[in-house]
Amino acid sequence: MVTQKEKVARPFELLLDQKRIAQRVKKLGAEITADYAGQRLVLVGVLKGCVVFMADLMRHIELPCEHIILGGSVAVALKGRHVLIVDGIVDSARTVSVIYNRLQVEEPASLEIVTLLDKPASHRNKVQVKYKGFSIGNEFVIGYGLDNTQLYRNLPFVGHLIDH
Ligand code: IMP
Ligand code: MG
Repeated sequence: MVTQKEKVARPFELLLDQKRIAQRVKKLGAEITADYAGQRLVLVGVLKGCVVFMADLMRHIELPCEHIILGGSVAVALKGRHVLIVDGIVDSARTVSVIYNRLQVEEPASLEIVTLLDKPASHRNKVQVKYKGFSIGNEFVIGYGLDNTQLYRNLPFVGHLIDH
């Protein structure tokens, strides 16, 4: 069993500071606001990594967001809706592509993906990520909602683990 001491001992380095993240998230919100002008949006967040990003991003989306859904089971009808999947990080893209395909079956008017972080070199599933905050390499990152063994989600910045 991993002890609490071992769990918190992982060293990390700063990758994206709060100001840089905030500026980028604000821009993403403006971009989404412009692209969906005059429309209503349904935001579907991919737990758990989306929570911090989604909370910040949605406050920069100046549109009626009709439904904001977190989690696996989507209880509202998506047929004919403009749906935006919100993820914290896309790595192999397996998770987001499963969700994408599952939601596509419901025949939304549009279906797109926004992620704070993308690891394009790691993609194993073909998926088009329309909106991304930052592209990063294959490093393992933590903070701003992202965890390592369920730790570090509350860090307000993004760091990368040094010895991963
Ligand atoms: P996927 O490989 O794109 O399916 O990503 C699966 C999940 O792994 C993501 O939603 C994250 O929860 C997690 N993940 C992938 N890379 C990282 C990382 O660098 N830091 C923290 N979590 C990660
Ligand atoms: Mg995780």
